[in-house]
Amino acid sequence: MDQAMPGLDYSFYFRDRPVLVTGGASGIGLAIVERLLASGAKVAIWDLRGDRLEALAQLHGDRVLAQEVDVADTDAVRAAMAKIVTTWGGLAHLVNNAGIIGRIMTLDAFDADEFQRVLSVNLVSAAQVTAAFVKADGDFGERSIVNLSSIAARTGGMLGNFAYATTKAGIATMTLSMSKELAPKVRVNAMAPGIIDTEIQMDSLGDRAKVDALADIIPMKRLGQPTEVAEAAIWLLSPGSSYTTGSLLDVAGGR
Ligand SMILES: NC(=O)c1ccc[n+]([C@@H]2O[C@H](COP(=O)([O-])OP(=O)(O)OC[C@H]3O[C@@H](n4cnc5c(N)ncnc54)[C@H](O)[C@@H]3O)[C@@H](O)[C@H]2O)c1
Repeated sequence: MDQAMPGLDYSFYFRDRPVLVTGGASGIGLAIVERLLASGAKVAIWDLRGDRLEALAQLHGDRVLAQEVDVADTDAVRAAMAKIVTTWGGLAHLVNNAGIIGRIMTLDAFDADEFQRVLSVNLVSAAQVTAAFVKADGDFGERSIVNLSSIAARTGGMLGNFAYATTKAGIATMTLSMSKELAPKVRVNAMAPGIIDTEIQMDSLGDRAKVDALADIIPMKRLGQPTEVAEAAIWLLSPGSSYTTGSLLDVAGGR
Protein backbone atom coordinates (compact mmCIF):
# COMPACT_ATOMS: atom_id res chain seq x y z
CA MET A 1 0.00 0.00 0.00
CA ASP A 2 1.61 3.26 -1.14
CA GLN A 3 -0.97 5.67 0.17
CA ALA A 4 -2.75 6.14 3.47
CA MET A 5 -6.32 4.88 3.53
CA PRO A 6 -8.98 7.59 3.24
CA GLY A 7 -8.85 9.10 6.71
CA LEU A 8 -11.41 9.16 9.49
CA ASP A 9 -13.87 12.05 9.42
CA TYR A 10 -12.77 14.57 12.06
CA SER A 11 -15.11 17.36 10.93
CA PHE A 12 -17.32 16.93 14.04
CA TYR A 13 -14.40 18.44 15.94
CA PHE A 14 -12.35 20.65 13.61
CA ARG A 15 -15.19 22.53 11.91
CA ASP A 16 -14.38 26.27 12.18
CA ARG A 17 -11.51 25.70 14.60
CA PRO A 18 -8.52 27.91 13.70
CA VAL A 19 -5.18 26.16 13.23
CA LEU A 20 -1.72 27.52 12.34
CA VAL A 21 0.59 25.35 10.23
CA THR A 22 4.11 26.71 9.70
CA GLY A 23 5.87 25.66 6.51
CA GLY A 24 2.44 24.71 5.17
CA ALA A 25 3.07 25.56 1.51
CA SER A 26 4.68 22.25 0.59
CA GLY A 27 5.42 18.66 1.59
CA ILE A 28 4.27 17.41 4.98
CA GLY A 29 2.95 20.83 6.02
CA LEU A 30 0.77 21.10 2.91
CA ALA A 31 -0.61 17.58 3.47
CA ILE A 32 -1.53 18.59 7.03
CA VAL A 33 -3.15 21.82 5.75
CA GLU A 34 -5.23 19.87 3.21
CA ARG A 35 -6.27 17.27 5.81
CA LEU A 36 -7.37 20.02 8.20
CA LEU A 37 -9.27 21.95 5.51
CA ALA A 38 -11.05 18.75 4.47
CA SER A 39 -12.09 18.44 8.14
CA GLY A 40 -13.63 21.92 8.17
CA ALA A 41 -10.85 23.76 10.01
CA LYS A 42 -9.72 27.30 9.20
CA VAL A 43 -5.99 27.28 8.54
CA ALA A 44 -3.36 30.00 8.80
CA ILE A 45 -0.29 29.09 6.76
CA TRP A 46 3.09 30.68 7.41
CA ASP A 47 5.72 30.09 4.75
CA LEU A 48 8.36 31.86 2.68
CA ARG A 49 6.97 30.75 -0.70
CA GLY A 50 4.75 33.67 -1.72
CA ASP A 51 3.61 32.14 -5.02
CA ARG A 52 2.34 28.97 -3.38
CA LEU A 53 0.70 30.90 -0.56
CA GLU A 54 -1.09 33.02 -3.13
CA ALA A 55 -2.34 29.90 -4.94
CA LEU A 56 -3.61 28.37 -1.68
CA ALA A 57 -5.40 31.60 -0.75
CA GLN A 58 -7.06 31.70 -4.19
CA LEU A 59 -8.14 28.08 -3.93
CA HIS A 60 -9.58 28.15 -0.42
CA GLY A 61 -10.84 31.73 0.04
CA ASP A 62 -11.40 32.82 3.64
CA ARG A 63 -10.82 29.30 5.04
CA VAL A 64 -7.12 30.04 4.59
CA LEU A 65 -5.08 32.94 5.96
CA ALA A 66 -1.90 32.74 3.90
CA GLN A 67 0.93 34.80 5.38
CA GLU A 68 4.47 35.20 4.08
CA VAL A 69 6.38 34.81 7.35
CA ASP A 70 9.92 33.78 8.21
CA VAL A 71 9.38 31.79 11.41
CA ALA A 72 12.90 32.67 12.56
CA ASP A 73 12.06 36.39 12.48
CA THR A 74 10.70 37.44 15.89
CA ASP A 75 9.04 40.66 14.68
CA ALA A 76 7.42 38.93 11.70
CA VAL A 77 6.03 36.20 13.99
CA ARG A 78 4.58 38.80 16.36
CA ALA A 79 2.93 40.78 13.54
CA ALA A 80 1.51 37.68 11.82
CA MET A 81 0.07 36.35 15.09
CA ALA A 82 -1.57 39.73 15.75
CA LYS A 83 -3.27 39.46 12.36
CA ILE A 84 -4.61 35.99 13.22
CA VAL A 85 -5.98 37.25 16.53
CA THR A 86 -7.70 40.15 14.76
CA THR A 87 -9.15 37.85 12.11
CA TRP A 88 -10.15 34.75 14.08
CA GLY A 89 -9.90 35.76 17.74
CA GLY A 90 -6.95 33.41 18.42
CA LEU A 91 -5.85 29.86 17.67
CA ALA A 92 -7.00 26.46 18.85
CA HIS A 93 -4.12 24.40 17.41
CA LEU A 94 -0.57 24.77 16.15
CA VAL A 95 1.66 22.63 13.94
CA ASN A 96 5.33 23.63 14.15
CA ASN A 97 6.39 22.13 10.83
CA ALA A 98 8.67 24.65 9.04
CA GLY A 99 12.17 23.27 8.74
CA ILE A 100 15.30 23.04 6.63
CA ILE A 101 18.09 20.50 6.36
CA GLY A 102 20.75 23.17 5.89
CA ARG A 103 24.00 22.77 4.02
CA ILE A 104 25.55 19.31 4.20
CA MET A 105 28.53 19.98 6.48
CA THR A 106 31.03 17.64 8.12
CA LEU A 107 33.18 18.87 11.02
CA ASP A 108 36.21 19.60 8.81
CA ALA A 109 34.05 22.25 7.09
CA PHE A 110 32.26 23.48 10.21
CA ASP A 111 30.62 26.88 9.76
CA ALA A 112 29.15 28.38 12.94
CA ASP A 113 26.89 30.76 10.99
CA GLU A 114 25.30 27.88 9.09
CA PHE A 115 24.86 25.92 12.34
CA GLN A 116 23.13 28.97 13.88
CA ARG A 117 20.90 29.35 10.83
CA VAL A 118 19.62 25.78 11.06
CA LEU A 119 19.14 26.22 14.81
CA SER A 120 17.13 29.42 14.27
CA VAL A 121 14.86 28.08 11.54
CA ASN A 122 14.23 24.64 13.06
CA LEU A 123 14.34 25.16 16.82
CA VAL A 124 14.28 28.80 17.99
CA SER A 125 11.37 29.37 15.62
CA ALA A 126 9.29 26.58 17.18
CA ALA A 127 9.89 28.04 20.65
CA GLN A 128 8.89 31.57 19.66
CA VAL A 129 5.89 30.51 17.59
CA THR A 130 4.69 28.35 20.50
CA ALA A 131 5.08 31.26 22.95
CA ALA A 132 3.03 33.47 20.63
CA PHE A 133 0.41 30.70 20.21
CA VAL A 134 0.00 30.30 23.97
CA LYS A 135 -0.85 34.00 24.30
CA ALA A 136 -3.26 33.88 21.33
CA ASP A 137 -5.86 32.01 23.37
CA GLY A 138 -9.41 32.50 22.15
CA ASP A 139 -12.50 30.75 23.39
CA PHE A 140 -11.78 27.34 21.87
CA GLY A 141 -11.68 25.00 24.89
CA GLU A 142 -8.86 22.49 24.78
CA ARG A 143 -5.88 23.29 22.56
CA SER A 144 -3.10 21.19 21.11
CA ILE A 145 0.27 21.46 19.43
CA VAL A 146 2.15 19.07 17.14
CA ASN A 147 5.87 19.58 16.54
CA LEU A 148 7.91 18.04 13.72
CA SER A 149 10.90 16.18 15.10
CA SER A 150 12.55 13.39 13.08
CA ILE A 151 14.05 9.96 13.59
CA ALA A 152 17.32 11.84 12.95
CA ALA A 153 16.97 12.86 16.63
CA ARG A 154 17.98 9.31 17.58
CA THR A 155 19.95 8.13 14.52
CA GLY A 156 22.09 11.31 14.34
CA GLY A 157 21.01 11.84 10.73
CA MET A 158 22.95 11.24 7.53
CA LEU A 159 26.62 12.19 7.29
CA GLY A 160 26.94 15.98 7.31
CA ASN A 161 23.45 16.53 8.78
CA PHE A 162 24.43 16.92 12.42
CA ALA A 163 23.03 20.46 12.71
CA TYR A 164 19.65 19.24 11.46
CA ALA A 165 19.66 16.13 13.69
CA THR A 166 20.60 18.23 16.73
CA THR A 167 17.67 20.60 16.17
CA LYS A 168 15.28 17.65 15.85
CA ALA A 169 16.51 16.21 19.18
CA GLY A 170 15.91 19.69 20.60
CA ILE A 171 12.34 19.61 19.29
CA ALA A 172 11.72 16.25 20.98
CA THR A 173 13.00 17.51 24.34
CA MET A 174 11.24 20.86 24.03
CA THR A 175 8.00 18.98 23.38
CA LEU A 176 8.38 17.15 26.69
CA SER A 177 9.23 20.32 28.64
CA MET A 178 6.38 22.32 27.14
CA SER A 179 3.84 19.50 27.58
CA LYS A 180 4.49 19.69 31.32
CA GLU A 181 4.34 23.47 31.48
CA LEU A 182 1.12 23.71 29.45
CA ALA A 183 -0.88 20.75 30.87
CA PRO A 184 -3.75 20.24 31.27
CA LYS A 185 -5.19 22.87 28.91
CA VAL A 186 -2.75 22.47 26.00
CA ARG A 187 -1.46 19.07 24.86
CA VAL A 188 1.94 19.09 23.14
CA ASN A 189 3.17 16.13 21.09
CA ALA A 190 5.82 15.53 18.44
CA MET A 191 6.13 13.28 15.43
CA ALA A 192 9.31 11.63 14.24
CA PRO A 193 8.93 10.97 10.51
CA GLY A 194 11.46 8.71 8.83
CA ILE A 195 12.14 9.30 5.14
CA ILE A 196 9.13 11.01 3.59
CA ASP A 197 8.96 11.74 -0.13
CA THR A 198 9.04 15.57 -0.21
CA GLU A 199 11.18 18.31 -1.74
CA ILE A 200 13.43 18.34 1.32
CA GLN A 201 14.87 14.97 0.15
CA MET A 202 15.53 16.24 -3.38
CA ASP A 203 17.05 19.46 -1.97
CA SER A 204 19.38 17.37 0.18
CA LEU A 205 20.36 14.59 -2.27
CA GLY A 206 19.73 16.42 -5.55
CA ASP A 207 18.92 13.27 -7.50
CA ARG A 208 15.71 11.18 -7.81
CA ALA A 209 17.61 7.87 -8.05
CA LYS A 210 19.40 8.59 -4.76
CA VAL A 211 16.09 9.45 -3.07
CA ASP A 212 14.47 6.23 -4.36
CA ALA A 213 17.45 4.16 -3.21
CA LEU A 214 16.71 5.17 0.40
CA ALA A 215 13.87 2.62 0.36
CA ASP A 216 16.48 -0.11 0.89
CA ILE A 217 17.27 1.07 4.43
CA ILE A 218 13.61 1.16 5.51
CA PRO A 219 12.03 -2.07 6.86
CA MET A 220 8.80 -1.29 4.96
CA LYS A 221 10.91 -0.91 1.78
CA ARG A 222 9.38 2.35 0.63
CA LEU A 223 9.46 6.05 1.46
CA GLY A 224 6.55 7.47 3.42
CA GLN A 225 3.98 9.80 1.86
CA PRO A 226 3.18 13.24 3.32
CA THR A 227 -0.48 12.16 3.66
CA GLU A 228 0.60 9.35 5.99
CA VAL A 229 2.29 11.88 8.29
CA ALA A 230 -0.79 14.11 8.08
CA GLU A 231 -2.96 11.24 9.40
CA ALA A 232 -0.76 10.96 12.49
CA ALA A 233 -0.82 14.76 12.91
CA ILE A 234 -4.59 15.08 12.81
CA TRP A 235 -4.97 12.31 15.36
CA LEU A 236 -2.48 13.98 17.71
CA LEU A 237 -4.25 17.33 17.29
CA SER A 238 -7.71 15.83 17.86
CA PRO A 239 -9.39 14.65 21.08
CA GLY A 240 -8.80 11.10 19.78
CA SER A 241 -5.46 11.47 21.60
CA SER A 242 -6.99 13.19 24.65
CA TYR A 243 -4.68 11.48 27.21
CA THR A 244 -1.53 11.72 25.08
CA THR A 245 0.85 14.59 25.77
CA GLY A 246 4.63 14.88 25.72
CA SER A 247 4.85 11.93 23.31
CA LEU A 248 7.09 11.38 20.28
CA LEU A 249 5.33 9.30 17.62
CA ASP A 250 7.46 7.57 14.97
CA VAL A 251 6.01 7.65 11.44
CA ALA A 252 8.95 5.91 9.89
CA GLY A 253 8.07 2.59 8.27
CA GLY A 254 9.81 0.69 11.07
CA ARG A 255 13.16 2.44 10.79
N1 LIG B 1 10.65 14.74 4.52
C1 LIG B 1 11.20 14.01 5.47
O1 LIG B 1 11.74 12.92 5.22
C2 LIG B 1 11.16 14.46 6.91
C3 LIG B 1 11.58 13.56 7.89
C4 LIG B 1 11.56 13.95 9.21
C5 LIG B 1 11.14 15.22 9.56
N2 LIG B 1 10.76 16.08 8.58
C6 LIG B 1 10.36 17.43 9.00
O2 LIG B 1 9.08 17.75 8.50
C7 LIG B 1 8.99 19.16 8.29
C8 LIG B 1 8.49 19.43 6.87
O3 LIG B 1 9.44 18.93 5.96
P1 LIG B 1 9.12 18.59 4.43
O4 LIG B 1 9.79 17.33 4.14
O5 LIG B 1 7.68 18.73 4.18
O6 LIG B 1 9.96 19.74 3.71
P2 LIG B 1 9.58 20.80 2.57
O7 LIG B 1 10.86 21.45 2.21
O8 LIG B 1 8.74 20.19 1.53
O9 LIG B 1 8.65 21.84 3.38
C9 LIG B 1 9.16 22.72 4.34
C10 LIG B 1 8.41 24.03 4.23
O10 LIG B 1 8.92 24.92 5.25
C11 LIG B 1 9.07 26.19 4.67
N3 LIG B 1 10.08 26.95 5.39
C12 LIG B 1 11.41 26.72 5.43
N4 LIG B 1 12.02 27.66 6.15
C13 LIG B 1 11.06 28.50 6.60
C14 LIG B 1 11.06 29.67 7.39
N5 LIG B 1 12.20 30.18 7.87
N6 LIG B 1 9.89 30.28 7.65
C15 LIG B 1 8.73 29.79 7.15
N7 LIG B 1 8.66 28.69 6.39
C16 LIG B 1 9.82 28.06 6.12
C17 LIG B 1 9.48 25.92 3.23
O11 LIG B 1 9.27 27.04 2.39
C18 LIG B 1 8.62 24.73 2.88
O12 LIG B 1 7.38 25.11 2.32
C19 LIG B 1 10.38 19.73 8.56
O13 LIG B 1 10.43 20.23 9.89
C20 LIG B 1 11.26 18.51 8.44
O14 LIG B 1 12.44 18.62 9.19
C21 LIG B 1 10.76 15.74 7.25
